[in-house]
Amino acid sequence: MDYPFAFGSATYGELFTDREIESERLMMNFRNGINTILISPRRWGKTSLVIKTAEKMHDKSIKIVRFDTFSCRNEEEFYQLFATEIIRQTSSKINEWVDHARQFLSSLVPRINVGMSPETEFSVTLDFSDKQAVNEVLSLPEKIAIKKKIRVVVCIDEFQQIAGFSDSLNFQKRLRSFWQLQKSVTYCLYGSKKHVMTKLFSRQSMPFYKFGDLMFLQKIDRSNWVKFIVGRFKKTGKSVSAKIAGQICDSVDNHSHYVQQLSWLVWAHTTKIAGDEEFRKAEEELMTQNSMLFYRYIEELSAYQLNFLRAVAEGNHDQLTKKAILNKYNLGTSANVSRLKSALENKELIDIEMKKVTISDPVFCKWIRKELCK
Ligand SMILES: Nc1ncnc2c1ncn2[C@@H]1O[C@H](COP(=O)(O)OP(=O)(O)O)[C@@H](O)[C@H]1O
Ligand SMILES: [Mg+2]
Repeated sequence: MDYPFAFGSATYGELFTDREIESERLMMNFRNGINTILISPRRWGKTSLVIKTAEKMHDKSIKIVRFDTFSCRNEEEFYQLFATEIIRQTSSKINEWVDHARQFLSSLVPRINVGMSPETEFSVTLDFSDKQAVNEVLSLPEKIAIKKKIRVVVCIDEFQQIAGFSDSLNFQKRLRSFWQLQKSVTYCLYGSKKHVMTKLFSRQSMPFYKFGDLMFLQKIDRSNWVKFIVGRFKKTGKSVSAKIAGQICDSVDNHSHYVQQLSWLVWAHTTKIAGDEEFRKAEEELMTQNSMLFYRYIEELSAYQLNFLRAVAEGNHDQLTKKAILNKYNLGTSANVSRLKSALENKELIDIEMKKVTISDPVFCKWIRKELCK
């Protein structure tokens, strides 16, 4: 049987909905050598979109390489991963991997490990004592592209991570200086932490300024979600009305991950036809299932930060520096509020758009109202 819904990792196949326009735009960029920067809060669907787009491109002359820098703590780990994935994903032949590593990473003395299952265990270990060697790594996709007479699209997920490397600015300069000269390679850089990504790509003083097409991924529309939810129930032998499906969307503010999670819970509680009772139980369970995580979020926060979240959760999105609000929620001075904002934004707990502050996670927002605003 088909899975009715899925969440927790990037989604694909029939569990993927909408995003036609975004996917077209990405394909167009990939085909025409336009670099793309894709930004949205976590769990809205960036990774899924890029995977889906890569799947849809049936162009033999374009190779799409995807990897995730979330676990990279420094430049060297980045280069290591970059080299390994470029080599591995531009060819399906193990001997070609070895050839490419030897041919194009000569000064790096690559140690090549191929394990029992080459798909997962292939890696190139680099020796960085020669600083010039980094140039070879960054030139790798262009060299492979030229040799194989193909074009390469390099998609790097969780790109915001590089902003935290030590001496990140010089690192960014180095990347840009190589990447902008490559004729056969296109980059798609995507990540969350909007303020970090925006700073990397839209500040004039930053190396990646005007690097490519800047896309801010929006939420999937409610009407599309409703169709999707009703369709998935039907496909898997149950049914739900458009009204209940709409309530699912509203309950989690059309947040991709949560729409899938809450739909799943409603589905799981339903024998045949989902009604108000099933919806109510599912909503309650969504809160319970996430509350451990939410406790962990707040454990790390200061009293001021908690007060600030309370103020936002209770609907004060754009008047957080008004005197009455500062007093009511005990937020200290308005200068303190600025500090609170940037700390919480950095933890990805809040989003700020046109000075309007919202809590990024809609279920966390409800939980704050329920547990902390009594
Ligand atoms: N286009 C989509 N259709 C259906 N569900 C989606 C879609 N995009 C995202 N989701 C849901 O959201 C979750 C998070 O998506 P993901 O691509 O990992 O987001 P991000 O990379 O922005 O953090 C997925 O596991 C899935 O449940
Ligand atoms: Mg992702």
